[in-house]
Amino acid sequence: MLAFGRKQVLQPEVLNLNAVVSEMDKMLRRVIGEDIDLVTVLDPELGNAKVDPSQMEQVIMNLAVNARDAMPQGGSLTIETGNVELDEEYARQHAEAEPGSYVMLALSDNGVGMDAETQARIFEPFFTTKLKGEGTGFGLSTVYGIVKQSGGNINVYSEPAKGTTFKIYLPRVEEPAGVEHQPEASPERAGRGETVLVVEDEPGVRRLARTILERNGYVVLEGADGSEGIRVCEEHREEIHLLLTDVVLPDTGGPALAERVTALCPRVKVLYMSGYTNNAIAHRGVLEPGVVFLPKPFTPEALLSKVREVLESPHS
Ligand SMILES: Nc1ncnc2c1ncn2[C@@H]1O[C@H](COP(=O)(O)OP(=O)(O)O)[C@@H](O)[C@H]1O
Ligand SMILES: [Mg+2]
Repeated sequence: MLAFGRKQVLQPEVLNLNAVVSEMDKMLRRVIGEDIDLVTVLDPELGNAKVDPSQMEQVIMNLAVNARDAMPQGGSLTIETGNVELDEEYARQHAEAEPGSYVMLALSDNGVGMDAETQARIFEPFFTTKLKGEGTGFGLSTVYGIVKQSGGNINVYSEPAKGTTFKIYLPRVEEPAGVEHQPEASPERAGRGETVLVVEDEPGVRRLARTILERNGYVVLEGADGSEGIRVCEEHREEIHLLLTDVVLPDTGGPALAERVTALCPRVKVLYMSGYTNNAIAHRGVLEPGVVFLPKPFTPEALLSKVREVLESPHS
């Protein structure tokens, strides 16, 4: 267990806290039990923070466990995220805070709450009001250590018998989150184990498509150009449901590849992607009008919804 004051080796990554919270949903519900409702109010515009994902999970878990302990009769745990600007005024009132742009993570319960005396000591290691064997007094000192090491702040608002809110502020960063830290797609956009052959010469784009698709229920095969695409297709004829191909490839055009692939695997469907806009491609006569097309760069949502659209379209 992380003891307060002992520095941990943090492995910060740019991530979206909404993704961390969403991924913990099932685990949190199991921990808090059926008598406590879990309510999440996640700001869809939430910015990113550069923090260690497993340490953030520990922060959320420790706070959730405390909230559960504070609501033995049941209640609700609300987890909220949002973008916050902390101004000079806030920094004056909170000695350790610097003004600036932050992402906020708040956990609120409507449990037993705390008086001022207890509040003053909660972040101390070994401080606990729980019975021997029920509390260690390490939960909040650990949370405090992680938040401070991440350049953030934590505040508590609590009243006896009313409940408690912990608010954590972490410095907001402009860099985009890695795809593994973006929220997963809604179930209707997720795959059902279908196999997608991705043919794309840019390794970065190929990897991105693979990561997004694999994380959302698809099996992925890859080719870096037309001839590799055909080779993979010959080996996996029966399995491939969808060809996702760049319109322009180093050796052959996407449409020519699609023709070969559909001849080899009759039930395959085709989705083109390209850096050109939809209309520009159509007007240049490369694609038939009405062909489904994914502009690059694409977001996970755009890729997944186009893939579903094509897979569910009737065969022409
Ligand atoms: N959500 C909460 N509601 C009421 N009291 C809390 C809450 N979270 C923490 N506390 C108080 O802070 C103390 C210290 O918490 P923590 O460091 O997690 O240790 P522990 O849970 O092992 O007692 C708890 O014993 C409790 O008195
Ligand atoms: Mg605790």
